[in-house]
Amino acid sequence: MTFEQLIPAPARAEGHSGGGFVLDGATTLWAGAGTEGTERWLRSTLGGALQLPLAPGAEGAPGSVSLRVDGELAAEAYRLTVAADGVEIRGGSAAGVFWGAQTFRQLLGADAFRRAAVRPGQERTVPPGVVEDAPRFGWRGMMLDVARHFMPKEGVLRYLDLLAAHKLNVFHFHLTDDQGWRVEIKRYPKLTEVASWRSRTKWGHRASELWDEKPHGGFYTQDDIREIVAYAGSLHITVVPEIDVPGHSQAAIAAYPELGNTDVIDTAALGVWDSWGVTPNVLAPSDTTLRFYEGVFEEVLELFPSTFIHVGGDECPKEQWKDSAAVQERIEELGLSNEDELQSWFIRHFDKWLSARGRRLIGWDEILEGGLAEGAAVSSWRGYGGGIAAAQAGHDVVMCPEQHVYLDHRQHGGADEPVPIGFVRTLEDVYRFEPVPGELTEEEARHVLGTQANVWTEVMEYHGRVDYQVFPRLAALAEVAWRELPAPAERDFADFERRMTAHYARLDALGVDYRPPGGPLPWQKRPGVLGRPIEGAPPNV
Ligand code: ACM
Repeated sequence: MTFEQLIPAPARAEGHSGGGFVLDGATTLWAGAGTEGTERWLRSTLGGALQLPLAPGAEGAPGSVSLRVDGELAAEAYRLTVAADGVEIRGGSAAGVFWGAQTFRQLLGADAFRRAAVRPGQERTVPPGVVEDAPRFGWRGMMLDVARHFMPKEGVLRYLDLLAAHKLNVFHFHLTDDQGWRVEIKRYPKLTEVASWRSRTKWGHRASELWDEKPHGGFYTQDDIREIVAYAGSLHITVVPEIDVPGHSQAAIAAYPELGNTDVIDTAALGVWDSWGVTPNVLAPSDTTLRFYEGVFEEVLELFPSTFIHVGGDECPKEQWKDSAAVQERIEELGLSNEDELQSWFIRHFDKWLSARGRRLIGWDEILEGGLAEGAAVSSWRGYGGGIAAAQAGHDVVMCPEQHVYLDHRQHGGADEPVPIGFVRTLEDVYRFEPVPGELTEEEARHVLGTQANVWTEVMEYHGRVDYQVFPRLAALAEVAWRELPAPAERDFADFERRMTAHYARLDALGVDYRPPGGPLPWQKRPGVLGRPIEGAPPNV
C-alpha cells in the first residue's frame, strides 16, 4: 500500500526515500495520555487481523508505534510519520489520533480490515513518509433509517465500524416512523409491544402490487442503545437520535390512539403502516401529545449525550388538522393564522424544551415553514434551498439534498438496479457533490456544519441491500466531507476511481456487499419488483 491509495485522500502526503517500517511480532505500542482508546482499537483490529501482539512498549523504543495528543494541531487533525525506526501518530485530540490510526490501517493493506488473520506471521512493511491531514467539516455523517426496515443491533455496530473506516463522525439514527418504532421507552411500553412491528410489508415501491406476507419488526432495548452509543463514542462517532414529529408518527398513534386526530378518524383502528409514502395520519397538536413526547424525549436525553437531537418535522400533511375542530380551536386559541404556523409552534415547543436542557434541536428543512425555531439547525434535504435560507438567517445547516446524497436512489440508469428509486446518482455524481452552495457568503457558509448521506430503507430489507445502496457511494461522500476538493467539474474522479481499486479490496475484507463497478451480481438484482424509475419525478411520487 502507498500514500496514493488512501480514501479519503489526505490533505498532504509525502513519501520519503529509504526503508519502510516493518510491522511484525516484535512491534510494540506506546500510547500517550488520552490515546488509550486508539491503543485498544489498534490492538484489537490490527492485532486480530494481522495476528500481532502489539505489546505495550516504552516511549520512543525503536520499532514501536507511538500515539500522542499534540495540542498544536487542530482537534481532529493528525500527523502520521512513518520511518524505518518507528511510526508516530499525533493528533490534536483523541479523535485526531484515531483518524490517523485509520489512515495507518489503510497503509497496511486490505487484510488489515479482516477480523482475524488468514495466515500466521503477518509481517508488513509500510512505506516511509508523512501524512498531514485534517477534515474540512466537523459534521461528516450518515443517516440510517431503521424504522422502515429494522437493522438488528449487530448490524448497527458493524455500520459504526464502516463509518469510522471512512472517517465519518456522525451517525444520525432515524428511530421512528409510520412503519415502526425502534427504541424502548420505559414509560410507554406499547411503543415496543405494538409499534415496533407490522404484520406485513409492501415489497417494492408503494405502486407495487406485491406484499411480503410476514411480520416485520424489532427494537433496541435501552441497554442496546447504551451499547451502541458507547461503541460509537469509542470510534469518535456521535449518535444523533431522531424521533420524528408531528408527521411520520403512525406507528406511535397505532400504539397510543389518543396521540392522533381522534375527532377526524378512528385512530384506534389504525395499525402500524405496511406501505410506503406519506400518511395523512399525523399527531394531534394537543397537550396530551406534547406531554407524551416530553416523556419520550426525557428518556431519549438520558440515552443519547449528543448536543443535537433530531425531531424530524418533515412531510406532515395538514389535512387532518384542517378537518379537526379541536385543532382549529387550538390554532385560534394560540392566535396563529394557519396550520403551517401550528407546525412551527409545535417544533418551537420542543426547541425551547431541548434548549432548556442544554441540547439543540435539529430538524428537516420543513421546520423553516412558518418560521424557524430559535437556535434550531436544519437538515437540508429537499435541495439546497432550505439550507441556504437557514444559513442566511444565521442557523446551522447539515447539507444532505436528496438530489445528491440520498443513497436509496439508484446508482445507475440500467434496468438491473434492484428496486430502482428516484434519481440516478452514480458514484461520480456523489464525488462531484458540493455541500456549500456558491450563493452563501463566507460568513453564511460557516453555518454549514457539514454533510451526510441519507439511507432510507423502504426497499432495503436486510443489511446486504443496505450495503449495496451505500457502497461504494459512501466512500465518495466521505471524501467530499473530509477534504477540500476543487469545484465539482474540476474534481479528479479518475484519480478517485483509481484509489477505489484498492478500496474495493478493503471493502471485500470488511465483508461489504457493495455494488460492483460492472453492475449488480445476479443475487443483487430484484427483477419484477416495481420501483420509482421516473427520472426527474418529484420526490415521493
Ligand atoms: C425526508 O426525506 N423525508 C427527510
